[in-house]
Amino acid sequence: MNLLHRPVRMHIASVGVSKFCFLFSLAFCGLLLLLIPAFQPPARQVDLPQPRPQIRSTQAGSSHRTRVPAVSVHAGGTDTATGLNGSSLGQGETMEMEVTASDKRGVDSPRSHERGAFPSRKVGRLSGSISHDPLDLKDIFIAVKTTKKYHKTRLELLIHTWVSQAKEQTFMFTDGEDNELRIRTGANIINTNCSAAHTRQALCCKMSVEYDKFIESQKKWFCHVDDDNYVILPSLLRVLSSYHHSQDVYLGRPTLDHPIEASERVKSDRSVSVKFWFATGGAGFCISRGLALKMSPWASLGNFISTAEKIRLPDDCTIGYIIEALLEVSLTHTHLFHSHLENLQKLPTDSVLEQVTLSYGGFENRRNVVSIVGGFSLTEDPTRFKTVHCLLYPYTDWCPKIKPRRKN
Ligand SMILES: *[C@@H]1O[C@H](CO)[C@@H](O)[C@H](O)[C@H]1NC(C)=O
Repeated sequence: MNLLHRPVRMHIASVGVSKFCFLFSLAFCGLLLLLIPAFQPPARQVDLPQPRPQIRSTQAGSSHRTRVPAVSVHAGGTDTATGLNGSSLGQGETMEMEVTASDKRGVDSPRSHERGAFPSRKVGRLSGSISHDPLDLKDIFIAVKTTKKYHKTRLELLIHTWVSQAKEQTFMFTDGEDNELRIRTGANIINTNCSAAHTRQALCCKMSVEYDKFIESQKKWFCHVDDDNYVILPSLLRVLSSYHHSQDVYLGRPTLDHPIEASERVKSDRSVSVKFWFATGGAGFCISRGLALKMSPWASLGNFISTAEKIRLPDDCTIGYIIEALLEVSLTHTHLFHSHLENLQKLPTDSVLEQVTLSYGGFENRRNVVSIVGGFSLTEDPTRFKTVHCLLYPYTDWCPKIKPRRKN
């Protein structure tokens, strides 16, 4: 009996299932039919208002300039006039000594050395886009300011050392003909026809020619150094590579630990006070092409000399005046640039090759040199420039072949 019932029940069950399937399929198809027209328009609607790939609007915010005191703050007793004299080439006789003292105080502190290893203000760095525009040494215009009196001594040493590694882009601005030096060394020597006197006018005259030659050169960076500076080219390239030449960059070492205050002649009988930072010319400084072009109304074709007359300050102060006071672009303070006004012996030996510029001597101290050991003794290489050079370029033909000896 039970056996009879089973197939019947199964039949009923299977009928029920197929009926259900049929109905379900119908409903499903109906639903699909309903959905087909409903699918398309929304799909299009979703497409249209879709926001465009996100435009990044966050770049501008973070790279704002903040002023970090460059040297440890000591209310320097130097008045402005003193600073001025010390700033250019360092032949300012007695006045210079006072600056030396005040500058030393800043440099001597261990903290400023720590900072010396890195630019203290990372100003206006472009995130990301730096790598797309790699900087080459050939993009840097290096102006060396000299005077005929130093061709045989200071200049020869430079031509012999670092200038030999940057021959094409280094230009020496002097005040007298020296065809012999030009022919013998193949160096780019430019006679500015400026006076050989160490006066404000003569110095500004040379800076004015330097500026014009740079603009003409189409290079990306203008760097000015003195004839007692060693330029560590790999460091220079590294430091400038962290900026872009189209940014407004004025990079250097302030002479003073406070902005200079100068009186700006507005009319023949009236003057106003202006305050600004400036990079000491004796340590070298660099200006991006973008900024240099903006300086043109006050710097090009002899305008530099009349601008300097307005504030009656030397060349490097006038550069600071144009950039900081007139263009309102801040000096990027760095401790990687060095002049003879500092105590150079205090530079840690292991950081010497990381610096951008070095110097030697100074008025009161012929032994003011960087402490570095290498192939030459102090008598063989009193400035230490040859030693530095051989550490940087050991395969130079005149460098000692053997491993650097230990000498003082
Ligand atoms: C300096 O004078 C000489 C001769 O007059 C001239 O050829 C040269 O271009 C001048 N230099 C500059 C930088 O003007």
